[in-house]
Amino acid sequence: MAYYRNIGHVPPKRHTQHRDPEGNLYYEELMGEEGFSSDSSLLYHRGIPSAVVDYREWEVGDMSLTPNHPLKPLHFKLHDLFPAGSEKGVDAVRGRRLVLGNADVRLTYVAADQRSPWYRNAIGDELVYVERGNARLETVFGAFEVREGHYAVIPRATTHRWIPVVEGDEGYVEPLRLYFVEANSHVTPPKRYLSKYGQLLEHSPFCERDYVVPTEPLLAEDVGEDPAAPTEVYVKHRGHGSGGVGGTVHVQAHHPLDVVGWDGCLYPFLMHIDDYEPLTGRVHQPPPTHQVWEGHNFVVCNFVPRKVDYHPLSIPVPYYHSNVDSDEVMFYTAGDYEARKGSGIGRGSISLHPGGHAHGPQPGAMEASLGAEYFDETAVMVDTFRPLDLGEGAFASDDGVYPWSWVGGPADAKGEGA
Ligand SMILES: [Fe+2]
Repeated sequence: MAYYRNIGHVPPKRHTQHRDPEGNLYYEELMGEEGFSSDSSLLYHRGIPSAVVDYREWEVGDMSLTPNHPLKPLHFKLHDLFPAGSEKGVDAVRGRRLVLGNADVRLTYVAADQRSPWYRNAIGDELVYVERGNARLETVFGAFEVREGHYAVIPRATTHRWIPVVEGDEGYVEPLRLYFVEANSHVTPPKRYLSKYGQLLEHSPFCERDYVVPTEPLLAEDVGEDPAAPTEVYVKHRGHGSGGVGGTVHVQAHHPLDVVGWDGCLYPFLMHIDDYEPLTGRVHQPPPTHQVWEGHNFVVCNFVPRKVDYHPLSIPVPYYHSNVDSDEVMFYTAGDYEARKGSGIGRGSISLHPGGHAHGPQPGAMEASLGAEYFDETAVMVDTFRPLDLGEGAFASDDGVYPWSWVGGPADAKGEGA
């Protein structure tokens, strides 16, 4: 994220004295990737950032993973994980359910209506997609107003919390539904979109103007809380327990919102999926055309409403494809999926198409798509280069019939990832 920002009170020279109006020194913290050898930011705290008064274990939940064996394509109905009303009392940190994972990434999901505790992921960056709802995302770098369709890219070790906005003028509206790509690495735009110095290039489907970045510091008193109050921070970290994930609660000596200023190139930011400009062609474009992010051993693509292929003999739905080197996970978030009846796919669905199994449109979909000029569908796809195993959320939301959906009778489905 080589895009320099300078927010709040920062001294003119790094690593020099920086004092508050009473003459007290601020505490400078470097938050940097790859040791001291990659992107970083300098944060200026009112309190000592390492001051912790208590440590205790946090049971993160069921992080166990089971191989997808015998190997099958699968369909998970994520909304089944949180039936109507079950989101009450759930928060976006402790309520997540693990759907799929491997040594590189975990895909988790939550429907929440409660504010989360303070949290930081010490394993890797989190890419969060807002399927539904609104929230305020508060971080030590600043606050964001988040709505349906936003991606939030939250760097490893960023202390933050999620505050769902679930009440409207007429009462309860809907829970906040979040899809988490928890990386064990960093999440960035694809390298091929970037100049050698990190600027997004002309051929990138989005640019820096599409990013929402913090504009001012956020302090405890700004949110009506006591700056001196000891505060719990839930830390997810590498562990030897279930799924290799551990959890610890740090009780910090003071409120985490104590950063009066920061500068650098490492910070959380948002991008809205509507600001992704799809690239289209006369014939079908392969999924990498729709790439938006990447991490170690995985990529993220998104399929957004778009004109479709315009060669006079084009077939707009995808050709069958066998992902020799990856597992493909498609999360269907919006659009018209009536056209996909027969597969059972709908909003809130995830399809898993594992490497080594050819997949594509339902029977009849190719003919049905001829002449189509526009697809109105939104989906977020994660392709992993190592096999994905099944979490408890996968077993709890498996539709049980998808593996046979190509032989299950007439259908006129169409669309990416079918
Ligand atoms: Fe596919």
